[in-house]
Amino acid sequence: MDIKKVGGLFLVLVVLLGTCFANAPKITKVAPGIWKIRCGEPEKIVPTAYQCYKMKKDALAEMPRIKSAPIDLSNISFKTRTRGCTVDLPLNDTERLFGFGLQINSFDQRGLRKQLITNAYPIGNVGFTHAPVPFYVSTKGYGVYVDTARYVAFYCGSHPKLAEADKNQAANTTEAGDTPADLYKPREINSNVVSVDVPGAQGVDIYVFAGPAMKDAVARYNLFSGGGTLPPMWGLGVKYRCEKDFDAANALRLAKYFREKHLPINMFGLEPMWQTGVYPCSYVWHKEKFPDPDAFISEIIGMNYKLNLWEHVYVRWDSPLYKPLMHLSGDYTVWGGLVPDFTLEKTRNIFGSYHEENLVKKGVTAFKIDECDNSNYAQAKKPWGFPECSEFPSGTDGEQMHNMLGVLYQRTMQEIFDRNNMRTYGDVRASGALAAPYSFTLYSDMYDDEVYMRMGLNASFSGLLWSPEIRQTSSIPDLIRRVQQACFSPQLTFNSWMIDNPPWLQFDRAKNNRNEFLENAEEVENMCREIMRVRMSLIPYLYANFAKYYWQGKPPFRALVMDYTNDTATYNIDDESMVGDSLLFAPFFKGRNKRTVYLPKGNWYCFWTHQKFKGGQEYQIEMGLDKCPVFVKDNSILPIAEPVEYVDKDTMFKLTVYAFGKNPKPITLIEDDGETLDFQKGKYNTVKLTWSNGSGQIARKGPYKGKRYEIIKWVHID
Ligand code: GAL
Repeated sequence: MDIKKVGGLFLVLVVLLGTCFANAPKITKVAPGIWKIRCGEPEKIVPTAYQCYKMKKDALAEMPRIKSAPIDLSNISFKTRTRGCTVDLPLNDTERLFGFGLQINSFDQRGLRKQLITNAYPIGNVGFTHAPVPFYVSTKGYGVYVDTARYVAFYCGSHPKLAEADKNQAANTTEAGDTPADLYKPREINSNVVSVDVPGAQGVDIYVFAGPAMKDAVARYNLFSGGGTLPPMWGLGVKYRCEKDFDAANALRLAKYFREKHLPINMFGLEPMWQTGVYPCSYVWHKEKFPDPDAFISEIIGMNYKLNLWEHVYVRWDSPLYKPLMHLSGDYTVWGGLVPDFTLEKTRNIFGSYHEENLVKKGVTAFKIDECDNSNYAQAKKPWGFPECSEFPSGTDGEQMHNMLGVLYQRTMQEIFDRNNMRTYGDVRASGALAAPYSFTLYSDMYDDEVYMRMGLNASFSGLLWSPEIRQTSSIPDLIRRVQQACFSPQLTFNSWMIDNPPWLQFDRAKNNRNEFLENAEEVENMCREIMRVRMSLIPYLYANFAKYYWQGKPPFRALVMDYTNDTATYNIDDESMVGDSLLFAPFFKGRNKRTVYLPKGNWYCFWTHQKFKGGQEYQIEMGLDKCPVFVKDNSILPIAEPVEYVDKDTMFKLTVYAFGKNPKPITLIEDDGETLDFQKGKYNTVKLTWSNGSGQIARKGPYKGKRYEIIKWVHID
């Protein structure tokens, strides 16, 4: 053969091999139990590039030791295409998948196509949500995170590829599918592949998180994100947001009413009209409605409330922020307002410093950051978001910005509190990847209580917190059941932005705004107060569970499947929740007083009566309006505080400690000032409560000088 030809062939071979290797995914271990698989050439604008908090390496090192990757990493394949790139990940026959952020209309995601588009109005169960997260976790005990801000689609074992289908033709087609009628019969067409379609990118980083258990994989993802948030103690109390047009006099009148009536409300929120203009926002106090903002703030604080202000991200032409942000914003507007490019530190600093000087330093402790969720994508005539083709000074495009804006906005606001050594607990309407460290709960304009429950459980798989807020309702039972649902959630919020008076005085919006109160308004108010008091009594317990979120990445509110992965009966339970390690909550929906409750294996005790139930089965539970199904797990120690009306840095909780079962496991409470970040530097005590030999013991350790817990009584229940 001609030597030149051989040389030529050799060159072609080298180039081909080179391309092959360049395309072969590159695997690195980034932390104990976490692997990164670099596929092709990832984009620069991805969620990990804007992480504010560092991965918690020490905590990851404390997790169960993992010898090898939980899935065969060499089995992950990657391909670039003109439309973007695709990654295929293996699945076995039995594993089920959960996650993808605040999913709304589906729970077990195996067999579904999920497209992660930030949007407040979901369409079916295709994946649109206020808070999409490209992370899923498998019942096989591992998780997968795809580091992209694109409208990524996950085909979760839903679409067999040709090679796979060809092998399984018999199973997939001939058993059913012979006639047109078969098309409409439910049939499972299964694939053992998750195909991830990343449009617009020539590469992507995939992270695989080991378990061994499903909840460990979730914890590793949260620790990779920087650990969960530990909200201020007051944040775990009750929040009330008043009517959207309220002025100072109206707000103060209501705030005084709550104190007179001993309603334990800890945070008071103003809705839009504290500002001069709101769609878009000026971020300037309304001169007629709030002529003396300083005096207003000091009165609110004087009544022991924390003040929370509503706003959104789009900057109004007459706002002091308009000029400084003009050249740091996207090339499209929303309601004529600027869309600041929060990927840039400079933008975050300008926006943040303004809020810091004019609001936080004056006493505002939290914000409700609205409208960052590309609302309303589902309606062509409501352009409440910027186009996907928007361009931002950083090079970010509209699509990427939509999927990151919620998190970037949270970062911008939380950085203010961080640099002032303060904690916050705010509200946000959009979130996304790697958000666990942010002290915000998600809320929505949707209002179905069953859907709310599923959203909260789905949120728990990927570092998000969900607030099923209470607005006006359709009946007294509906109101009470909703308050109970909020009581056992990350945040008990009354969002009365559409009603002048509290919903317990009149649930009907029109009547409420005409000051026509219920005949039994006082009775309903008393019932609501009792539920709020239950919430206040749980604060030490909830705080301890949030501390586990912070230090161990363990979600404080979570789906049962995370704790009971070996029990396949939990895989479809999207209407019961673990509240911390020891409580199981199953709300009554639509004002009902009866429902089926599944209790996993082991003994359970009714939270109210202490009646014992044997788990591993379903029960029909019926209760009056004043109670809802809450069960305590066997062998738990549960501290219940005498409810206080608000929490501040000196609040001392008087505890009755209940030890359940034959072998109660200790619980460790966290004792600190509850509102600064000093705990991050070790300024806290652990207060370990143990039950042994028929008596309770308390062991306090740590440098914190104050005392938050006093034990009044121990009670053993078996
Ligand atoms: C909505 C928000 C509501 C309320 C309202 C005020 O976007 O979801 O909770 O704040 O704005 O205009």
